Amino acid sequence: MNLISNDKLQPFDFVLFGGTGDLSVRKLIPALYFRHCENQLPDDGRIIAVARSDYDTEAFKQWLNEEVRQHISDEDFNESDWLEFLQRVLYFKVDVTNVESYQSLVDALAGRESHVRVFYLSVAPSLFTHITKGVQAAGLITPTSRVALEKPLGRDRQSAEDINDKLSAAFSEDQIYRIDHYLGKETVQNLLALRFGNALFEPLWRSERINDVQITIAESLGVEGRGGFYDQTGALRDMVQNHLLQLLVILAMEPPVSIDPDAVRDEKIKVLRALKPLTGIDAIENSVRGQYKAGAYVDGPVQGYFDEKDIPADSTTETFVALRAEIASWRWEGVPFFLRTGKRMESKTTEIVINFKKVPHSIFETADGFSTPNQLIIRLQPEESIRMRIYVKAWGDDIQLQPVFLNLDFNDVFQKRKMIAYERLLLDVIRGNPTLFMRRDEVAAAWAWIDPIREAWEQYQYSPKSYTAGTWGPAAANALISKEGLHWNED
Ligand code: BG6
Repeated sequence: MNLISNDKLQPFDFVLFGGTGDLSVRKLIPALYFRHCENQLPDDGRIIAVARSDYDTEAFKQWLNEEVRQHISDEDFNESDWLEFLQRVLYFKVDVTNVESYQSLVDALAGRESHVRVFYLSVAPSLFTHITKGVQAAGLITPTSRVALEKPLGRDRQSAEDINDKLSAAFSEDQIYRIDHYLGKETVQNLLALRFGNALFEPLWRSERINDVQITIAESLGVEGRGGFYDQTGALRDMVQNHLLQLLVILAMEPPVSIDPDAVRDEKIKVLRALKPLTGIDAIENSVRGQYKAGAYVDGPVQGYFDEKDIPADSTTETFVALRAEIASWRWEGVPFFLRTGKRMESKTTEIVINFKKVPHSIFETADGFSTPNQLIIRLQPEESIRMRIYVKAWGDDIQLQPVFLNLDFNDVFQKRKMIAYERLLLDVIRGNPTLFMRRDEVAAAWAWIDPIREAWEQYQYSPKSYTAGTWGPAAANALISKEGLHWNED
């Protein structure tokens, strides 16, 4: 895999189902625009938006002008590039549930069978099967076609398998690109580079040297108008089954023999399969569910979960999850992995913290009594950085130790525009590089670990504990980690 490739792509048709949706406007269209500006899209690369709205191409472009513009900063926007980019865009109104309605697409794609053809499904999962059947019945699937799907892929292992069965009736596995946008984030790929591009860390990356690992994906936003979807989903399905587990497996996997897509994915799936199952009372003791209540940020008060649109007053959906996981392998035996994610937490922070073991015997006095050992902190959001906490002698007469950070801030080093995770992922779909996408067996293995946790919550009627918006989650999440004399990294 080329982690970063600036090659121009082959001619393509990118058929974007859900072209008027929120994700298209906020991420997908801006991502393609930025790649256009980088001169990476070939002249003959078209974006064919499809949705139910009553636009023609010109009206759709007008609408894009207004909507997308809000999601590209002035600094990154160039009027003439944008106008040039819009020339690639077409729009078709299609009722995806009606096979006859695909005719306009058939006409638009006729004679372009040798081009790469991407069907990007940025739609509700209930429409996946309709679209698969629709494009198949309309004869639109060519050997160079690919289908890309947004998570969530199902609600549990069985429903994910059902969707996958239907997809594989029309597409072969190597044509299916299951998206987890966290894999497109720069720092996630940097984790691969850090681990497998440097010999330094490998001897340390094991239970003999690592005490515990913490992975936090905290969001300050609430459910943001997605109440209907979110209440049916909850944080375990929305964030843990995919984003958190993907971070965990990349951090914990064995070195792959090459950077080939399957070599990487074969190693990732071994970690998923080695996760110790959390079932029954074990799942209850090693998990915390939370739900936010009204609270405040510096910029003012915010509503509780029940006050959000489309949330039933008696909802027991979790907006926060913390878990203690273990991986049964030679490398990781006995190392706890603490995972947590939540909405309306104190700040938007995504980070991986690796706490190394303390020195076996200290000959020094320290200002903080060695309360925190060496740490490697890999931060994905808000800024992208890698920091290493080490002890040095404090300046002055006394021999006293003091912790300091070796800091690598990616903004300072590269001084480039921060890429949207989708920029790389969309190009990889067009390019035909599946490394950063989830294979069918990976999705199944992730659900196989998640399902028993949810079942235990139901069996033991474990209702979410409430936490105040703007905090780091329920007190029980601190208790989960402090049982082992540890605390969450919240610097
Ligand atoms: C999505 C979830 O997959 O990821 C959202 O459905 C969540 O609920 C989002 O807000 C977080 O993504 P990011 O990139 O902002 O951390």
